[in-house]
Amino acid sequence: MDFLELLKEKYGSELNRITHSIGVKDLAVELCKKFNIDPIKGEIAALFHDYYRYEDNDTLISLMDKKDYETYKDMPWGYHGLAAGNKIKDFGIKDIDIINAIKYHTLGRKNMSMLEKIIYVSDFCEINRTHEGSKEVRDLVLTDFNKAFLLTLEYTYKHTKDLNVKELLDYYGGLNMKEVELVVSEIDKLNMQNIKVYDLSNRSPLFDYVVIASATNDRQANAIIKNLRELELKGDIQIKGIEDQDDAWILLDLKDIIVHIFNEETRAYYGLDEIYSPFLKD
Ligand SMILES: [Fe+2]
Ligand SMILES: [Fe+2]
Repeated sequence: MDFLELLKEKYGSELNRITHSIGVKDLAVELCKKFNIDPIKGEIAALFHDYYRYEDNDTLISLMDKKDYETYKDMPWGYHGLAAGNKIKDFGIKDIDIINAIKYHTLGRKNMSMLEKIIYVSDFCEINRTHEGSKEVRDLVLTDFNKAFLLTLEYTYKHTKDLNVKELLDYYGGLNMKEVELVVSEIDKLNMQNIKVYDLSNRSPLFDYVVIASATNDRQANAIIKNLRELELKGDIQIKGIEDQDDAWILLDLKDIIVHIFNEETRAYYGLDEIYSPFLKD
């Protein structure tokens, strides 16, 4: 079965409906080769994943496996994948990994196979994609696939606010988002001023985030050390080092996060915010 021909037959002149699938195919094939998965599997799954993308829900439900419908009936955005994964069997494809990669390309799920992840990430970041995060993931996907996968989940959660995606993010170990949020909330609780988070996860091999805050008195600056040590005892963060230069600047090395606590004057003098400003996280 030539799945590209099949797609062309279905969508004919509507080229943009085909170019995305070809983009997914090209990337998926490249990733399959890299991870020693039969590239034909990636090609088939990619070319068929959105085959029913434009059908209405009733049609999709009629194409789906009943059990899948029962499980995912509250997630209609995933119907087209579940339908395609089920129907590809009628086109002679029995390989369960291909079927699952198609079924879960939108919904994701726990315990995904490598092929499932490849289709999931390729769908998000193939070369024709321009939405937020797509380029960032694309730049990373061949060098750090695991991180690209987590970023895909993270951006998907950011765009959809879908709690299932959040659950997946937790399940797969997330990025350092949670850690950075914990640290920022500790700083915030102490009423420090002008808290800024800079995301350098793609820029620095040494750490992912830089957090800068201004303390207005020594008590705050000392309290943050104490509070972060408590977080460390709970196992939430890891403190690799603390440099308490003087009262004007404390530097905490939390492995993936670097925290600078300044007084305003010293902060302005060193100008780190200016250096990191292109990476300011919203
Ligand atoms: Fe899709
Ligand atoms: Fe797609």
